[in-house]
Amino acid sequence: MDKAKQEAGYRAADQVRDGMIIGIGTGSTVLYAMERISERIREEKLAVAGVPTSYQAAYRAVEMGIMLTSLDAHPKLDLAIDGADQIDPAKRMIKGRGAAHLREKCVADAAETFIVVVDDSKCVSILDGPVPIEVLPFACMPVIKRINDLGGSALIRNGSGKDGPVISDNGNFILDCTFGEIRSPEELEQNIANVPGVVESGLFTRYTGKTMVIVGAKKS
Ligand code: A5P
Repeated sequence: MDKAKQEAGYRAADQVRDGMIIGIGTGSTVLYAMERISERIREEKLAVAGVPTSYQAAYRAVEMGIMLTSLDAHPKLDLAIDGADQIDPAKRMIKGRGAAHLREKCVADAAETFIVVVDDSKCVSILDGPVPIEVLPFACMPVIKRINDLGGSALIRNGSGKDGPVISDNGNFILDCTFGEIRSPEELEQNIANVPGVVESGLFTRYTGKTMVIVGAKKS
C-alpha cells in the first residue's frame, strides 16, 4: 500500500510547474508528494510555495525545504494536492481522517486544479464511511442531535496522547458520523452544512469538475 501511495504522490508532484503556488494537503499519501516536490526543488531549482492545510503539512514542508505561504497572500492557487478516505466514480469524496478537512476544503476551493492522490483501497462505488464533522465545542450536543435527525449516528473523536476529545488545528471538536450508504452525498453535505455549530464536514462533492484523481499502482 505504501508503494501505491508513493507512486500516486510522486505522479502528482510531477504535475507541479515552476512558479506555481500550491495547496499542500494532509496525510500519508501527500507526504510522498511533498518528498518528490522537495527533491525537484533541490534538483531542478523549482520555485514553488505551498499553503499547508495543517500543522503536520506545515512542519513537514519546513523540514523538506518547501517554502510556505498563505491564502491571505494567495487567495487563488494553481493546484492543490490532497489525499482522501473514500472516493466514488463521480469523484465525490470523504476526507478528514486526520481532522484537517476544514482547511483542506478552503484550499480545494481556492485551487484551479485539485489533484487527489489515493491507493485503490480508497476507491468505492458508493460512499459509506464515517463522515468527519468539525464542530464548535459550544454546540457539540445540539449538533449530535441534529445528525441523528438526519439519519446519522455521531461519535465524538477522542485523542490519543490526551484524555477526552481531539482538538482540531482550529480549536474545535471532531464528530465521526455514520450514515450507512450515502445515496445523495451532495444533499447530505448541504444538510450538514445547514446545522448551526457545524464548521465543516468531510464530504467533498462540489469540486468534481476540477478534480484529477491519481490512483497509485502497487509495484513489487
Ligand atoms: C486529513 O484530514 C485527511 O483528509 C487526509 O487527506 C485523508 O485522510 C487521506 O490520508 P492518507 O493519505 O493518510 O490516507
